Amino acid sequence: MLLRDYRPGDLETIHRINQGEVPAVGTETINDLGDIANQSTIALVAEVGDTIAGFCLVLAPGADYDSLNYVWFSERYGDFVYLDRVAFPSAFQGRGHGRTMYAEVERLASQRRPTSTHFALEVNLRPRNDQSLAFHARLGFEEVGQRETSYGTLVSLMAKPL
Ligand SMILES: CC(C)(COP(=O)(O)OP(=O)(O)OC[C@H]1O[C@@H](n2cnc3c(N)ncnc32)[C@H](O)[C@@H]1OP(=O)(O)O)[C@@H](O)C(=O)NCCC(=O)NCCS
Repeated sequence: MLLRDYRPGDLETIHRINQGEVPAVGTETINDLGDIANQSTIALVAEVGDTIAGFCLVLAPGADYDSLNYVWFSERYGDFVYLDRVAFPSAFQGRGHGRTMYAEVERLASQRRPTSTHFALEVNLRPRNDQSLAFHARLGFEEVGQRETSYGTLVSLMAKPL
């Protein structure tokens, strides 16, 4: 598996992967997903052979992004990197790619956002995403809050010190 920076030509593929993993990740229009990618401090795609096998998008503070989960962290943490989404299609899950991708996010965060103190994100408690909860617990993330969203989900807000 090879990790590289996202390029605009990847947008259609990462959108298809995103929509295939709803509701574990939020549904997005292709334009909105492209906007998030363009604002990301770290945007990675994973390649296995010539297939894009997954992606993640990570924002720093100060992005023009109206996600209330992102706003929640902005109001409580001075500096952080916020993983807006990560998704691998089922054929590429459970092979260690997620762990490798997160290690690369942390490495790049120390270069591109050296002032960040936390790695932040949220995971769904309703509908419950047991796979992601187990994954993030294994990688050292801890719940720092919960919130009901306007679209009917309950999320666990999680953070890991960097
Ligand atoms: C969640 C996700 C990113 C995890 O990535 P992954 O490549 O499947 O996970 P990995 O294989 O790297 O697993 C890393 C660790 O988490 C643990 N883990 C992963 N899935 C698990 C599961 N279902 N149950 C228990 N532990 C699990 C592994 O055992 C592994 O631990 P180890 O390295 O000590 O053996 C990926 O499965 C995914 O994209 N899922 C669909 C979309 C999604 O839920 N995104 C997250 C939204 S918050």
